[in-house]
Amino acid sequence: MPRHATPRRYLMCPPAHFKVTYSINPWMDPAKPVDVPLAVAQWEDLRERYRSLGHTVEELTPRPELPDMVFAANGATVIDGLVLGARFAYRERAPEAEEHLNWFRAHGFSGAAVHEPAHINEGEGDFAVTASWILAGRGFRASPLSHGEAQEFFGRPVIGLDLVDPRYYHLDTALAVLDDATDEVMYYPGAFSPGSREVLRRLFPDALIAEEADAAALGLNAVSDGRHVLLPQGAVGLFGPLRERGFEPIGMDLGELLKGGGSVKCCTQELRGALRGAR
Ligand code: ARG
Repeated sequence: MPRHATPRRYLMCPPAHFKVTYSINPWMDPAKPVDVPLAVAQWEDLRERYRSLGHTVEELTPRPELPDMVFAANGATVIDGLVLGARFAYRERAPEAEEHLNWFRAHGFSGAAVHEPAHINEGEGDFAVTASWILAGRGFRASPLSHGEAQEFFGRPVIGLDLVDPRYYHLDTALAVLDDATDEVMYYPGAFSPGSREVLRRLFPDALIAEEADAAALGLNAVSDGRHVLLPQGAVGLFGPLRERGFEPIGMDLGELLKGGGSVKCCTQELRGALRGAR
């Protein structure tokens, strides 16, 4: 099947102040040193890759007291130019929500287009957007109540999915949207409860099913533009199946950021239908 990329607009935040000083997921070990210049180089590589593929990358200014800000996917969810702000589960990251809202306000998003949430949600960490639905993770971070809040704000059906393995604490560590025009996804079943696995099987009978080793390399933390799939380079088992489906996998080395429990997708917030706010 021929695959077509469509131009995207992404919001990213450089890891200039990236550190692992606390642990809020099993990947984070404050005893392990982080090489900041290397993290920055790996992150710049990702940003330049997006640009070379024709995508627009906007940048958020990192704050020294917010070491996880590099994981920009968590700061909001944007669909059809509507911005659902975040509300973080842990106080260490709580002020990031306001940083994102300020960015959106400064870039022409205002009034009813911006919603400050009442319930905990960590942006695209737990919300994934397909053509038909918003898939929404719960169990570790997002409140189940945030699912109804997102459904009401975006007017799109939200499908709740229960995450059961702490290594896959956000939906975007266990599932990636490959084609958002046709409801095509890849996921690791082991991250989900039996009922949620059954839901995924019904909604996505043709999904690419990831093996444990590729999930453990954070291979599902991927970003697709409909043709190119940028994913952690360690997820070697996914490359062949992606190519068989007509996608072009691009392995990225974000090894330093993996120490924070994130990779390609965590670093990338997609601004959907938000081109009018462009500079
Ligand atoms: N250290 C961050 C946290 O635990 C990593 C967030 C990764 N982001 C993501 N979209 N999964 O909150």
